[in-house]
Amino acid sequence: MRSVAEQSVAELGGPASVLSRQKRDHVELDRLLNRLPELGPDAEGAVLLQIYRLVFPHAFAEEAVLWPVMRRILPDGHQLTLQVELEHQEINALVTRLESLHAGSLERQQVLDRVVALLRTDVRDEEDELLPRLQMRLTRKQLWLLGIAWEAVRRVAPTRPHPIVARRPPGNVLAALPLSILDRGRDRTDAFLQRGAGAAGPPLQALSSALRRASHAVEELPGMKRGEDPATRVGRSSRAGWGAAAILTIAVGSAAVVLARRRR
Ligand SMILES: [Fe+2]
Ligand SMILES: [Fe+2]
Repeated sequence: MRSVAEQSVAELGGPASVLSRQKRDHVELDRLLNRLPELGPDAEGAVLLQIYRLVFPHAFAEEAVLWPVMRRILPDGHQLTLQVELEHQEINALVTRLESLHAGSLERQQVLDRVVALLRTDVRDEEDELLPRLQMRLTRKQLWLLGIAWEAVRRVAPTRPHPIVARRPPGNVLAALPLSILDRGRDRTDAFLQRGAGAAGPPLQALSSALRRASHAVEELPGMKRGEDPATRVGRSSRAGWGAAAILTIAVGSAAVVLARRRR
């Protein structure tokens, strides 16, 4: 069984195969992670945003499309996929924590180092173990079809960490649309802030925080944990409830208004 890392695009089933698509993202992630140590706090924020936009939709589409297929076709698929789901879960929890820690603090650096190490471990587990197993069981055409399905989900998936929602369908599929709208609104808001928003800075900062809180509230809605394996389950906060829906509506409406004004 050869690692995906050692195989050419042709051996992986062509550029549209799910294996080639996975490898391209992993190579780009490696490039971004290698840049992190040489950056100051401002530039680091911009690169972290790029990493989040690459990593979270990528992993979400793995959990929604690829791992269910592996569980169906491999006798030990449950064990193999649970291992990477645990890695994904820890990355989600650590990045959520990272957002609440002060730039420049020792604790933040330690959490960031752990995130980087886990991302590298996740790539190795997938390229050396999971994806070659998938390659042994599927035809070239099936790898191509799976690549299209994975890419379609990746393009509309949430772009931020969501440790509370299920790492498995149907909970993660149910959560995808509202979380993706909130995350992508927050990405645009944060990108404006990083370019220097001037007088619009404080309201945009408040909007970004509101979108973050709204997405965490959506995570707590009923149904978002359905399908979860007990090993990746984390506790709900005591503030769970339908009030999340109201916060969601207000936050999305505010985001649309502010971003439309900025565009004019
Ligand atoms: Fe991957
Ligand atoms: Fe992954």
